[in-house]
Amino acid sequence: MSIAYEDVKRFAVTTPIYYVNDAPHVGHAYCTLHADALARWHRLAGDEVFFLTGTDEHGLKVQQAADEKSMTPIEWADITSQRFKDAWEALEIKPDDFIRTTEPRHYQAVSKFLQAIYDNGFIELGSWEGLYCVGCEAYYTESELSDGNCPVHGTKVEVVQEENYFFKLSKFQDKLEKLYGENPNWVEPSTRRNEALSFIKSGLQDISITRTSIKWGVPVPWDTNHVFYVWYDALINYVTALGYGNDSERFNTWWPSVHHLIGKEIVRFHCVWWPAMCMAAGIDPPNHIFVHGWLLVKGEKMSKSKLNKIDPVVLAEEVGLDTLRYHLLRDTPFGPDGDFTYEGLIRRHDADLSNNLGNLLARVSTVVSNKCAGIGPKPRENSPLKKNFDEIIGRVRDAWENTAPSAGLEATFELIYLANAMLEQNEPWKMEPGVELEGILGDALEVLRLVALLIFPAIPKSAQVIWNRIGLEAEIESARLDDAAIWGLYPGSLPVTKGSPLFPRLGKNSKNSGESKK
Ligand code: MSP
Repeated sequence: MSIAYEDVKRFAVTTPIYYVNDAPHVGHAYCTLHADALARWHRLAGDEVFFLTGTDEHGLKVQQAADEKSMTPIEWADITSQRFKDAWEALEIKPDDFIRTTEPRHYQAVSKFLQAIYDNGFIELGSWEGLYCVGCEAYYTESELSDGNCPVHGTKVEVVQEENYFFKLSKFQDKLEKLYGENPNWVEPSTRRNEALSFIKSGLQDISITRTSIKWGVPVPWDTNHVFYVWYDALINYVTALGYGNDSERFNTWWPSVHHLIGKEIVRFHCVWWPAMCMAAGIDPPNHIFVHGWLLVKGEKMSKSKLNKIDPVVLAEEVGLDTLRYHLLRDTPFGPDGDFTYEGLIRRHDADLSNNLGNLLARVSTVVSNKCAGIGPKPRENSPLKKNFDEIIGRVRDAWENTAPSAGLEATFELIYLANAMLEQNEPWKMEPGVELEGILGDALEVLRLVALLIFPAIPKSAQVIWNRIGLEAEIESARLDDAAIWGLYPGSLPVTKGSPLFPRLGKNSKNSGESKK
């Protein structure tokens, strides 16, 4: 099977579904925000887009969290799932669907999917003893432990013994190797691909996929003494949301043109189990998996179980939503781990949003107001910036297409820098009204139009403000890159508004620091 995911003009993007044992933190926002920005980018690119996120509500971890609160698991899940929904809304993250694994549609899809695997002969009864980490909801071998503890959480593992149903993962070794061999970019970055492939090559063992010791799970359709192991139900969310077993037209339209975004600790589930499960159920594996690193705080993973977690909604209220969105997309490239620091966020805000973008907008609107009676002139067809733009736009498009918003934003900001340099060189604020002044201001307005378009996926609210301030009326959302990302389309003769500073400086030495930082 050869998958040409690059050719697909339908773009479905998913995040992992988050456990509801606690509230969302900036680490969760990091991935969900990338999915949101990529979805917005692909919409601008004219693709048909579907963006899915949600919550993972079964398993021992959630049952234990509910017990601690003296609630039933579903009462607890209702509260916490809503917190994720609310957080995404506050962060202007707009999924097309938010799936909860406790919904009837998911129970139906899980039953059908696993019944298909069972009927195809890839599930059998066996007995199992293993070392289990509740935090990960995963078994480990002795050799995988670090100092006898869970390698991810550093906590004690439990010895668990049960009669379980097993998925015959071992039967998929050759097929998985073939899938990886034929699709070199199936998992990116290549370090993660190699990690998954060497795990496969080291020999696959069958995996236990049901539990009798807990009740909080999706019942096994052919043996109701068992519920499915949480991971085994969770992965199926991706097909539930596309209508698996319920709406075959929708399912066949979207599957497998799906890009999964996942964190590095859940590679094995997504890059080994999940494609094998799909093959066992008789469907193609998803088209593409992109693995990102962790946001670290002082070298440690930001996590629900540690005190280092930061509430993204509180932080956005404090520093400004688009400041947080921009920082997360720009400063921690999607792939490696990245350090999250408040100072880094402020530095990035001041350098890029305030001194570069905000400054360009303020300068241009002030000079247009003073010298052109507030009416923006047209750009020059032969502007020196046209050449820059024509080169930069290629890099911007490539970066976003390759799941690299950070590089896309970096290239976009080069254009802003060049426009500011042009203003500094020509000093239009000192020039007499005339063709030359109009040409320079028109070029700068054109850069603002193009930049608003290109940064819309990252900072949609601010981009729309810029768009409106230079007199453009329609919603950026309805623009399409092929028609709009072309030099020279700012029509001129539009009213330019001189509003309040869009991104007041936040750093210590700024006049505004007292007002903007609580
Ligand atoms: N429920 C499973 C996923 C099932 S998907 C079928 C799960 N949930 S989780 O809430 O523990 O983690 C969800 C995602 O959040 C993971 O991809 C994880 O990498 C990501 N993050 C959690 N903390 C993070 C950081 N500090 N930084 C970046 N991402 C991190 O695993």
